[in-house]
Amino acid sequence: AKPVLRTYSLSDWPAGPGLPDHYRLSIKREAAPAGSDLPPGLASSFLHDHVQQGTRLRVLPPAGTFVLDTTADTPIALISNGVGITPMLAMLKAALAQPRPQPIWFIHGCRDSRFHAFREEVQALAQQHPDRLRVHLAYSRPQAGDEGLFQSQGRVDGALIQRLVGASAQYYLCGSAGFMDDLVQHLRQSGVEDGAIRFESFSRPTPSAEDAGTDGTSEAPVPTCQVRFARSNRLATWEAAKAEQSLLELAEAEGLRPPFACRAGVCGTCATRVLNGSVSYAATPSAAVPKGSALICIAQPGSDQLSLDL
Ligand code: FES
Repeated sequence: AKPVLRTYSLSDWPAGPGLPDHYRLSIKREAAPAGSDLPPGLASSFLHDHVQQGTRLRVLPPAGTFVLDTTADTPIALISNGVGITPMLAMLKAALAQPRPQPIWFIHGCRDSRFHAFREEVQALAQQHPDRLRVHLAYSRPQAGDEGLFQSQGRVDGALIQRLVGASAQYYLCGSAGFMDDLVQHLRQSGVEDGAIRFESFSRPTPSAEDAGTDGTSEAPVPTCQVRFARSNRLATWEAAKAEQSLLELAEAEGLRPPFACRAGVCGTCATRVLNGSVSYAATPSAAVPKGSALICIAQPGSDQLSLDL
């Protein structure tokens, strides 16, 4: 009944002046999780089964805050696991095209060679840039015949990063939620400043003990709230009893069509100005939240009166 929307990372960085002549997405077909009755990935299956050269898709332009800082001189560490490799590859190509000479670490973890995307592409870049690019591949469960394809066995973790890179670098992280949580925690404990750690998670942020009440927007949701959609001049009642209903869903139930993409607090597309009142997040959003705004796809009312610029 509803359109299916997904947000994917760009996996390529076309060199050359001016606007890129193409964008590339690299999408893994998501099978049904083993041992569960969940279905296979709806969007990834559709893309694999039905989208071909010549198919037209409606897309939003690239967006988000997970971008390469091309002004810093410190080493660059691009660290990923699983499908998190996609934006790292785009950033790697962009970083290699910069005139700055700083070293670049490309560190990636996956299960074995069957799950190792872009092996030849990264290998070719390493051969072209032997003085700048250092590649480290970690296989968690290598198969017979994988010898020589990886540098370490096990997961990419804080100890490995510390051994390879050290503390003085700009860190870019992309991967599963547990991988990211562990690495961010480790880097902070090692003295890396928050400004030098950038990350993008592919999953809805999970609540942590630190999320409650730290920034004035993470207090518990109220039981009920009168929400005014000011520009549309509509008033709606939000009730906690309708568990997990976000302000975006409330707006849609009122017939409004605010922009959105990820519906998971990752992309920032749904940022909406809060005119009056406050909102609550069950977990800290991954995307930067502009001052005075809320990511309504994962926000709920934090006050009994709320007015949004919608
Ligand atoms: Fe992506 Fe809300 S739609 S952050």
